[in-house]
Amino acid sequence: MSEQCNQSCNTCQEACSERKEEKPDFSAAPHELSHIKKVIGVISGKGGVGKSLVTSMLAVSMNREGHRTAILDADLTGPSIPKMFGIKEKAQANEIGLFPVKSKTGIEIMSINLLLENDTDPVIWRGPLIAGTVKQFWTDVIWQDIDYMFIDMPPGTGDVPLTVFQSIKVDGIVIVTSPRSWSR
Ligand SMILES: Nc1ncnc2c1ncn2[C@@H]1O[C@H](COP(=O)(O)OP(=O)(O)OP(=O)(O)O)[C@@H](O)[C@H]1O
Ligand SMILES: [Mg+2]
Repeated sequence: MSEQCNQSCNTCQEACSERKEEKPDFSAAPHELSHIKKVIGVISGKGGVGKSLVTSMLAVSMNREGHRTAILDADLTGPSIPKMFGIKEKAQANEIGLFPVKSKTGIEIMSINLLLENDTDPVIWRGPLIAGTVKQFWTDVIWQDIDYMFIDMPPGTGDVPLTVFQSIKVDGIVIVTSPRSWSR
């Protein structure tokens, strides 16, 4: 142990044998009224490969099997989930939190499209604001009694997937790939 040890390894440069690596914890607790059993992220390396379709199909299948199912649409600049389910209404909120909108068959959905006045309004926000909003979809939305939540991600490894994986304890991921659509 260093003679100047102040028990704070994070701010110390010494390579001593007593060194303890303290990993920062970015995890975020869901809303206190939420009960979510399993969270599955749906990701891909490139765009347009079918993530939103796979997310929706997985949710529909699990819902048909009788599980209470939710979709968190984390693709803020290309939200397609409400459209896929034909949802026109907007999400409601009160002083306690935000309420997801139910699809016709009962899948609970939260998406930026359910909060914008106009569905077609562009979301031109910088990374931290986008990632912060996705985090709020986890912390401020009241997800009551969900067996399976599927998170539809934007493509790649940008701010949103990093924030989701740092702040939400996901139980599994589905990686969607597709062959490129042209040939020589
Ligand atoms: N297996 C498939 N076969 C044929 N077409 C498909 C398949 N999966 C998705 N598509 C079509 O490809 C297009 C893109 O699909 P989708 O929106 O699900 O991709 P995405 O990965 O979510 O895209 P983005 O990265 O923009 O969010 C849609 O028009 C969809 O209907
Ligand atoms: Mg998509």
